[in-house]
Amino acid sequence: MSLVRVQNIMSNELAKRTVFSRPPEPPQEYLLNDPTSSIFIGITKLFSVPFTWTFANLTNPHVAVVGITGAGKSFFVKTFLTRASYIWNTNAIIIDWAGEYKAWVKQSGGTVVALGKGDYINIMDLSGMKPIDRSKQIMNSLEILTDISEYPEQKRLTVEAIEQAYVNFGFASAEIPEMGKEPPTLKDVIGLLEEKVQEGTYEYPAELENAVYRLRQFAREGEDYFSRKSTIDLGKLSSSGLVAIDLSSLPDEKFRALAALFILQTLKEKMRSEGWSAAKGLKALVVLDEAWKVASDDRSDAVTIVREGRKYQFGLIVASQNPTDINEAIFSNVGTTIMLRIKFEKFLDYLQGSLNFSGFMRKEISKFGVGQAAIDMSFQTSVQFPDVFLIERIVGEIPLDVYTVTIAEILSQQELSDSNVQKEYYFEKIDLNSKFIQAELSSEAINSIFKELDTRNRLIDIRSLVQVMVNEKVSKETIVELLRSVGLSDAIITKVFVYVT
Ligand SMILES: Nc1ncnc2c1ncn2[C@@H]1O[C@H](COP(=O)(O)OP(=O)(O)O)[C@@H](O)[C@H]1O
Ligand SMILES: [Mg+2]
Repeated sequence: MSLVRVQNIMSNELAKRTVFSRPPEPPQEYLLNDPTSSIFIGITKLFSVPFTWTFANLTNPHVAVVGITGAGKSFFVKTFLTRASYIWNTNAIIIDWAGEYKAWVKQSGGTVVALGKGDYINIMDLSGMKPIDRSKQIMNSLEILTDISEYPEQKRLTVEAIEQAYVNFGFASAEIPEMGKEPPTLKDVIGLLEEKVQEGTYEYPAELENAVYRLRQFAREGEDYFSRKSTIDLGKLSSSGLVAIDLSSLPDEKFRALAALFILQTLKEKMRSEGWSAAKGLKALVVLDEAWKVASDDRSDAVTIVREGRKYQFGLIVASQNPTDINEAIFSNVGTTIMLRIKFEKFLDYLQGSLNFSGFMRKEISKFGVGQAAIDMSFQTSVQFPDVFLIERIVGEIPLDVYTVTIAEILSQQELSDSNVQKEYYFEKIDLNSKFIQAELSSEAINSIFKELDTRNRLIDIRSLVQVMVNEKVSKETIVELLRSVGLSDAIITKVFVYVT
């Protein structure tokens, strides 16, 4: 008798066997949602189902996006924000660490707030908050960013001076402030502490001096980004359409983190005070891209927004190359995780350990191309299918593919400081492409130029761009024509060619 018997099995019998009853993709009813109230992301890899995202049946609206540099995290975020705005009129506030959203936001008609480059935030602004609560928040930021928590006496002196500054400006500690009344700044707080130093009667002068020193780093002339009258209306941040807070011009990570923490605090307060409304979808999405310090600290309000966001229709999107930089309270609570290409074994271990996907999936994630993704969703009810599935590619908003060409380095000091002189030029991909076609560039040349631009994150200085064209054997006449057609003067064009070989 042979050991193997051939059986005839009906297909419905077959379907009951584990391999078929646990398909590696959620069933269609979980993937394909009403297009008028969900966001299209891409086509699933296995069964080619259009996946549209909604948080209606998820534990919450928050999204974590992880993947190596260049994998497509920011591209996903832009696509997601654009569609959320179409569908739900969702406002977006991007805390833009590296300034990589600025060109896109301008192109999309949004607002760019450039801290350290003309825009200021007074971290003592109350935006409707009681001074006593605001004082606590300022202390909270100082605790995250400085060593103040190790020095209780200095902490006490600092908080006392902050509260006193509010009182001196006519704000009662425990009362909702009057609208439109000018609050003090950190400089006033420092002033109060300095007065105390001058008096010379305080028991521990070293403590006092250290407290002054710590605050002064945020208020030095030329670096007083947070201790001047605010140039933006912070109370309106979460209802102003698309806003990018560009932190790239601030001098260091500490300043960037202070700005980010402050903005999160303000948004959290706004979220709570507005409460729930019958608005469709999401009211606002807050984006933290590569903001590890702010995403990783337990005391950061990113954690509060994740805990309470759902009931107020506020979503948080955290993007990072390193999933272990995302605070566990955030990472283990997001309703959706988008995994783009991940290379490091230890990051793959972490993801696989927390999201529990197969070895097959792990392998796929490690060899993804740009925009390919594995998605994990946490549903509110327990489900009978693996919740991680593959997307062929995040399908983006083509008209918003923006290329930035900067001419800053060939401008004179005087031209640079002249706000009438344009320093950056923005092109949509289709426009740039048609300019190349008009200039009769070969399609090989066009492809290589775009490839080069893409490896530079779509930001290139004019000389390098011209060099790329020269390398592609585009004639000098054609290049000059092209540069003229975008509005560059002959004087500038001449300068461009100086270093081109
Ligand atoms: N899904 C996609 N489809 C087409 N192009 C993409 C996609 N994802 C990323 N890109 C392009 O790849 C480059 C790197 O993407 P980016 O989002 O900046 O990566 P990351 O933020 O992960 O470093 C950009 O030029 C971007 O436009
Ligand atoms: Mg990015």
